[in-house]
Amino acid sequence: MNNHAYHINDIFINHDEMNISRYDETFLINSAKRRCAATGCSSFEDYLELLEDSELERMTFYDSLQIGYSSFFRNPLTFYTLEKIVLPELIAETKNNQSKDLRIWSAACAAGQEAYSIAMLIEEQKVCNDSKCNCLIFGTDKDEEQVKLALKGQYARHALDNISLYQLDKWFVKYNNTYHIKQELKEKISFSVFDLFNKQYCCPPASIFGHFDIIFCVNLLFYYKEKFRKIILDKIEAVMTEKGFLITGETERDILMKHHFKEIYPQSAIFRKY
Ligand SMILES: C[S@@+](CC[C@H](N)C(=O)[O-])C[C@H]1O[C@@H](n2cnc3c(N)ncnc32)[C@H](O)[C@@H]1O
Repeated sequence: MNNHAYHINDIFINHDEMNISRYDETFLINSAKRRCAATGCSSFEDYLELLEDSELERMTFYDSLQIGYSSFFRNPLTFYTLEKIVLPELIAETKNNQSKDLRIWSAACAAGQEAYSIAMLIEEQKVCNDSKCNCLIFGTDKDEEQVKLALKGQYARHALDNISLYQLDKWFVKYNNTYHIKQELKEKISFSVFDLFNKQYCCPPASIFGHFDIIFCVNLLFYYKEKFRKIILDKIEAVMTEKGFLITGETERDILMKHHFKEIYPQSAIFRKY
C-alpha cells in the first residue's frame, strides 16, 4: 500500500464505523490533497499531522469522501440507449407477459435524480407503446440525508439542465425558484436507506420478491478498493435477471470488464451478465 494511504488508514484505525480501509487508495489520497489545499497546510505531511491531531478535521475529511453529486440523465449516451433500445425491448416483453413486472433499482440514488430520470422515460415509453406494463422502481442510498432529499423531490433550476421542456412541463411544478416532482411520478418510486455492504441482504428488503431487469450502480464503484467493488458486484449479479442490465458510470466501465459483465454497445456503460 502507498505510504500516505497507509498513514491515513492508520489515523482512522479507531473509527471502524467509517470503514476508511474500504476506499480506493488514489481516491483517498486525492481527497486528502484537496483538504490539504483547503486547510492551507504547507505540505502533505503537515496535513497528515493535522488529520492525526484534530477530530474536527477527521470528520471533515470523512465528509469529503461522501460525494453525493448527481444530475438528471447524467450520462446522455446511456440514457439515449436505454430509451431507444433497452426499454422498448423490456416493455414489449412485459406487455406479452401479464404476470411480469418490470423491476428497476437505482442502488446509489443520491437525491433521486437517476430514479426519477428512468421513471420519466418509462412513463413516456408506456404511452408510446400503449402499454400498461407494471413497473416497480426502487431508489436506495446509504446516506439518509440524500434519501430524504429524494423523497422531497425538489430541485433548483440549474439542476435540471438535461431535462427537456416537455419533461419540465409534464413532470415538475414550479414553486418560487424550485421545481417539485409531481406526485404522480413520485408514486412510481420507493425510496429507502440501504448500504450496499449490508451483510444480511443483497438488495433493499422492500424489494426482495423478484430479480431486477435494470440496476443502476453509477459513480460509486470507483470510491472503493477492488475487493469491495467485487463484494458489491457479486451481490448485484445475484439479484439481476438472466437477461438483466447493469448500468455504471462512464469512468467505471473498465471495472465492470474485469468482472462477469459485457458491455452491450461500446461506450454505452450498459452491461449484461456473461
Ligand atoms: C456520486 S453519487 C452518484 C449518484 C448517482 N448514482 C449518479 O451517478 O449521479 C454517489 C452516491 O453513492 C452513495 N454510496 C456510496 N457508498 C454507498 C454504499 N456502500 N451503499 C449505498 N450507497 C452508497 C453515496 O451516498 C452517494 O449518494
